Amino acid sequence: MRIIVTGSSGQIGTNLALRLQDVGHEVFGVDKRLNTWTEDFRYLLQDLTFPGGLGDDYPPADLVVHLAAHAKVHELVREPRRALENSIMTFNVLEYCRANGLPLVFSSTREVYGDVHRFDEYGEATADFAFTESPYSASKIASEALIYSYARCYGLRYLVFRFSNVYGRYDNDLSRMVRVIPLFIQRLLRHQPITIYGGSEKTLDFTYVDDCVDGIARGIEALGAGTVVNETINLAYGQGNTLVRAAELIASDMGVEPQISFTPSLLGEVTHYIADIRKAHDLLDWRPQVPLDEGIPQAVAWFREHPEHAADFVGDWVPQETDFKLAVT
Ligand SMILES: NC(=O)c1ccc[n+]([C@@H]2O[C@H](COP(=O)([O-])OP(=O)(O)OC[C@H]3O[C@@H](n4cnc5c(N)ncnc54)[C@H](O)[C@@H]3O)[C@@H](O)[C@H]2O)c1
Repeated sequence: MRIIVTGSSGQIGTNLALRLQDVGHEVFGVDKRLNTWTEDFRYLLQDLTFPGGLGDDYPPADLVVHLAAHAKVHELVREPRRALENSIMTFNVLEYCRANGLPLVFSSTREVYGDVHRFDEYGEATADFAFTESPYSASKIASEALIYSYARCYGLRYLVFRFSNVYGRYDNDLSRMVRVIPLFIQRLLRHQPITIYGGSEKTLDFTYVDDCVDGIARGIEALGAGTVVNETINLAYGQGNTLVRAAELIASDMGVEPQISFTPSLLGEVTHYIADIRKAHDLLDWRPQVPLDEGIPQAVAWFREHPEHAADFVGDWVPQETDFKLAVT
């Protein structure tokens, strides 16, 4: 297939584009930033919030994967306009799909489930916009809603994937984007203490990037073939791990002793999430292959091989009082 990938300079976009190309698809990326990792696929530098006219320079395509977004939850609490930009990007991409009759794969998030600790595992049907936790979450809920409306009004064919804490290859450009696993790796390598926002019980579902990309690739094939259409699907490992365990696994891989302290959670953040991944298995015959204790050593090895990308992040962001949640609702 000929596949347009937006957000192709980002972590998931870079991994996905290379993977799709490896298996014989033609990839055309779009991003507003240069790709600092690879020159192995074609892409266009374009700001997707630009009003109207997306795609004049795009080659003909069979399917669009829309990954471009401001993807950092707390950053959007501080700068909610970026959440609006996420929704505008989705709108622009949807209009391009509508004009060209193209199916769409969209990258949503576990943040759409909120932080209400209502379920042991979150199945796709448990999302409820009344529990919207943050502007980032709102931007993804709004994007999903637009997609569902385009399916009803204009016959859009889509798959929505909800990811959770994707880590591994191409994620350690910390000066651009601070993510928890690369941040822990960097701090532990420097023998610095770690702060966990959200307490010792904070539990998330970490997904190794190859598992995430494998799920998306299966979705692309199925949507392209018309065998799985108009579905919303969790892609995660399907197991909860505390952030303490993640830090301990990293520390033990490096042979260091972690010093961990705790604070209340930050505004907007989810503090407990474990995905129900049965739908991805049933529809796409997908099963994640890399549990956290196998993924962490690979992530640490990647980080060690590419220290230049993390070199200028000082890692001493100091939250203000207003950055913290007052109470879990
Ligand atoms: N990585 C995760 O753990 C995770 C979890 C849930 C959802 N997601 C979603 O998956 C998608 C990909 O995530 P990622 O981790 O690769 O993020 P990323 O930040 O590494 O990549 C996103 C890319 O979008 C690009 N972008 C942002 N604004 C743009 C604009 N106006 N025009 C063009 N390009 C623009 C950025 O330059 C960046 O390269 C995002 O939509 C994110 O919200 C990611």
